[in-house]
Order: sequence, then C-alpha cells, then structure tokens
Amino acid sequence: MFHTQAYTGTKEENYALVIEQLQALISDEKNVIANLANAAALLNYFLHDINWVGFYVAEGNELVLGPFQGLPACVRIPFGKGVCGTAANEKRTVRVADVHAFPGHIACDAASQSEIVVPMIKNGRVIGVLDIDSPMKNRFDEVDEQYLERFVETLVHHLDV
Ligand code: SME
Repeated sequence: MFHTQAYTGTKEENYALVIEQLQALISDEKNVIANLANAAALLNYFLHDINWVGFYVAEGNELVLGPFQGLPACVRIPFGKGVCGTAANEKRTVRVADVHAFPGHIACDAASQSEIVVPMIKNGRVIGVLDIDSPMKNRFDEVDEQYLERFVETLVHHLDV
C-alpha cells in the first residue's frame, strides 16, 4: 500500500522524497503502463496548483496520450507541434510561463495558464514526454525543472522500452 507523506521540508527536500517514493513504486515492476500511471498519480498527489499531469508516449513521428490525471485530453500530437511536440523535437525541457504567449500551444484544458514539458530520453531517443499544466501563470520555476528532470530520469531508467 502507498503510504501518504506530509511534504513538510524545503521544495528541494520534498522533491527528493517524491523521487524516493517513485523509486519504491516502480523498481520492482516492468509494466510501462503501470509505472507511468503510478508516476502520474504520485505527481498529482504531490504537486499543488496543477490541473493536468501525465505522459505522452512516442509512436512514429507522433506523441500519443498515455496515463494521466486530469480532464480528457488531445490524443495525438505531432513532433514539433505544441509545447509537447517542441520539447520532444528539441530534446529539452520547455517551461512556459503563459501558454497564451506560446505560439502553437495546444489547448486541451481551458483552465491551463502555464505548463512544463520534460522529454523522456532513453539511449538518445525520445520515448515520450511528461506534461504538467497549471491554472496559475508562471507556476513552474527552475527548481521544478531541475527536479522534474531527475524524476523523469529515474522513471526512464526503470522503464523497459
Ligand atoms: N498543451 C499541450 C497539449 C497537451 S495538454 O496540455 C494535456 C501542448 O501544447 O503540447
């Protein structure tokens, strides 16, 4: 059973704890859907002020909707399109303070105001992205970026793809 924790430390300490929790959740399991589903649920439990968190998985030259928490979302995003496709194409985290100012942003939930997308890279290949939306502008800072990248590294390390 998953034991809920109060995240009472600094932002950095809390993220470190979440990454430990992720490791405990996924290290004995190889099923990709199960691990992505638990990773999305864990982030949804931990992060405040978000309205969508989940994964898109690479299939050919598209990203296809994977496990997530939030409202039903767009199913397919071509590489290079939207915030997700940009992060996948450029193999870098894309942090958007105001989605309305991002050319080509794909609106899946009208509540979204800011967004962060972290590419999942395995052996040099983009296997998907982690996407998080917030109803607040400028929700994600450099600490979020740094620790979400570590979160994704840990996740990708355990994913059998
Ligand atoms: N906003 C994303 C689309 C996915 S949803 O936010 C869940 C984008 O521009 O790629």
